[in-house]
Amino acid sequence: MEDAVPFELFMEAALYDDELGFYTAGGGMAGRRGDFITSPEVGPLFGAVLARWLDDHWNRLGRPDPYEVLDVGAGPGTLARSVRIAEPACRDVLRFTFVERSPEARRRHEGLGRSIASLDEVDPGTVHVVVANELLDNLAVRLLERGSDGWQEVCVGPGGPCLRPAAPLPPVSAAVLDALDAPVGVRVPVPERAAAWVRQAREALVLGGRLLVFDYGVHSTAALSERPWESWLRTYRHHGRGVSPFEQPGGQDITCEVAFDQLPPSDECVVQAVWLRRWGIEELVDEGRRIWTERAALGDLAALRARSRISEAAALLDPEGLGAFLVSSWTAR
Ligand SMILES: C[S@@+](CC[C@H](N)C(=O)[O-])C[C@H]1O[C@@H](n2cnc3c(N)ncnc32)[C@H](O)[C@@H]1O
Repeated sequence: MEDAVPFELFMEAALYDDELGFYTAGGGMAGRRGDFITSPEVGPLFGAVLARWLDDHWNRLGRPDPYEVLDVGAGPGTLARSVRIAEPACRDVLRFTFVERSPEARRRHEGLGRSIASLDEVDPGTVHVVVANELLDNLAVRLLERGSDGWQEVCVGPGGPCLRPAAPLPPVSAAVLDALDAPVGVRVPVPERAAAWVRQAREALVLGGRLLVFDYGVHSTAALSERPWESWLRTYRHHGRGVSPFEQPGGQDITCEVAFDQLPPSDECVVQAVWLRRWGIEELVDEGRRIWTERAALGDLAALRARSRISEAAALLDPEGLGAFLVSSWTAR
């Protein structure tokens, strides 16, 4: 078992290794023809709601020109396409930059905006908005298991998973884990990379800028500790569930529900359904119904798009699905 590595390194390689990573070599992709459906991939309605939020934020900032928006983990860039279709007031000055690790996804950004591979390429204090949809669940997590003498690091070796003494924890995670009343054998995630990413993304912001994160997760790690670990550390491929996360590295997506209490404290964290309603999803659906009634006979793209808002809204607000995602926001540091 000399070659055992912490689960975090195994997950990082399984998703992003140049030669075997699910996203970097295997071409893992969001979308109807891809591996999973995210809110932007449900249809253009999610982007239309974000467009309203972007206009509001633009006005609050005094209408900067250019208005710099960074979409991190942008996948093929569908969210930005939907924002443009929605024609927000800020459209003439809105400048998207896509940060995406997958070369295949980056190829699909052509004509949409600047496309880069890493947040390191962004100058601090230059961006008005950083948005990330379903990015944090895809950042490698540490996996810890409660042993009789404290927390142990779950590692992966040639013979499968094994336990090693845990490396030191970041202070926030240490405090959260210390407070857990977890029996031996319980596993919890430590999203150290996601916490570091939030810190780095905030540094990219201008004063008054905002980081807006959409993802599935929980307000408290305690909630995860009470569930079987396989229910929050999941694998997917081709729109179905995959096998154990310790098997077939590169052959499937590995995702972990985000423990938001281990991230830097946010200004707000609400469920997606609440956020979408606040930013006018119901008005957009009503408008869609009106347009459909007027244009149904024409059956043109505008009519079909309008009608599809009804089913898109149902999916985005579903309390058992996307509607239960969390939306968290941070200001510049
Ligand atoms: C689940 S997909 C979400 C795609 C898109 N945001 C959406 O909602 O459809 C996560 C994406 O994040 C990308 N990714 C993961 N880590 C990243 C990082 N550190 N920087 C930029 N992109 C990253 C992956 O390559 C993948 O395309």
